Amino acid sequence: RAQGSVLSIPHPMGSEDHQAWLVTQMDEALQVLKDKKGFTVDPSSIEAEGVRENMSGSVDDEAPDTFFTGKSMLFVNGFDHRRLRSLVSKAFTPKYMESLRPRVQEIADELLDNVEPYGEMDLVKDYAYPLPINVICEMLGVPEADRGRLQTWSSAIAKGLGWGRQDPAVAVHLEEFGNYVKQLVENKRQNPENDLISKLVTIEEEEDRLSESELISMITLLIFAGHETTSNLIATGAFELFDHPEELQALKNDLSLVPAAVEELLRFNGTSTSVGPRYATQDTEIAGQFIAKGDMVLVIVKSANRDEEKFTQAEDLEIQRDIDRHLAFGQGLHMCLGAPLARVEGDVAFSTLFRRMPHLQLKYPQDKIAWSFTLSSQGLESLPVTF
Ligand code: HEM
Repeated sequence: RAQGSVLSIPHPMGSEDHQAWLVTQMDEALQVLKDKKGFTVDPSSIEAEGVRENMSGSVDDEAPDTFFTGKSMLFVNGFDHRRLRSLVSKAFTPKYMESLRPRVQEIADELLDNVEPYGEMDLVKDYAYPLPINVICEMLGVPEADRGRLQTWSSAIAKGLGWGRQDPAVAVHLEEFGNYVKQLVENKRQNPENDLISKLVTIEEEEDRLSESELISMITLLIFAGHETTSNLIATGAFELFDHPEELQALKNDLSLVPAAVEELLRFNGTSTSVGPRYATQDTEIAGQFIAKGDMVLVIVKSANRDEEKFTQAEDLEIQRDIDRHLAFGQGLHMCLGAPLARVEGDVAFSTLFRRMPHLQLKYPQDKIAWSFTLSSQGLESLPVTF
């Protein structure tokens, strides 16, 4: 805060016309994320006429990365955003997510059954990764045999979100992922089942509310967003608990604290590091700093989530903290659709882990654990533990 809550950075896309800004505190972050007229996710909507309501056709349908980036709800505004989000929002309500809890529990137990005889595991590879990927793939109807391949593609997308898609290797993975999803859709057309992709295919064919490229984008987004972030929550959350043994002990003593602990782990050092970018649709001001129309703004979640004006002892992990609001799931129109699912998964994952493995501990010292970072998220490469 001493250095200001709006900081100028070199423009990540090398733009000479526009500046880029980091917003680091909670009030300023909310100003950006909740102002649907003043900031947009789609810069192509700004130049000519301000924020257009209907953003269809603003991207190249043939570009390989369009499958993910161009036509998903995450990158469109206004009418199209509402239309796309409403097609799947019923499948992600807190009530429906609660109904999935028994199945999430079964998957968590099966994963721990598999490693139990060995007395050790890689918590990332054996638990944090497969738990959410199996849940979202079951919801969507992605065959079990295909799930292994999704990891490579998903990490390519994670890099793409950090603008790594300019890297040709990332573009190749994005294209493979898009082609895989196209094939999957084709299979569901031939043999519809009781899953979300089959439902979306029916909407596309019968109700004319979803185009082919939007359908592919939607499924790609749901597969990616539905597991990468939650895997990171489970892995980084476990790491932070090991790093705060008193908090871990309090949690083990009373597992009813897990839902509150999940929120605190998301706030303290969770998977989201930044949200954005957003683009100013008009000249504006944030915390006294002039932001010109077209400038890029990135909200630094990790920092805003430790805003000392909003959280007492913001730098401490306190699993019983009463949190009014954090930014790990974003805010405003694009706030995470899957938050209720992530919460159920986080609750089941930590409760099951510490109930079944009370002696769980790190196999190597903390400084041997490798973190991985993209622009918008962080996770662990692996987390060897013994129990
Ligand atoms: C959006 C974080 C789990 C689906 C977002 C956003 C954040 C986020 C920060 C907003 C991005 C922005 O405003 O630019 C997380 C975290 C998760 C998680 C930290 C886990 C701990 C999930 C899950 C799903 C999901 C399980 C299930 C499919 C989505 C979708 C959007 C989104 C579809 C786009 C919403 C929109 O544009 O309207 N997520 N997410 N997320 N998330 Fe999540």
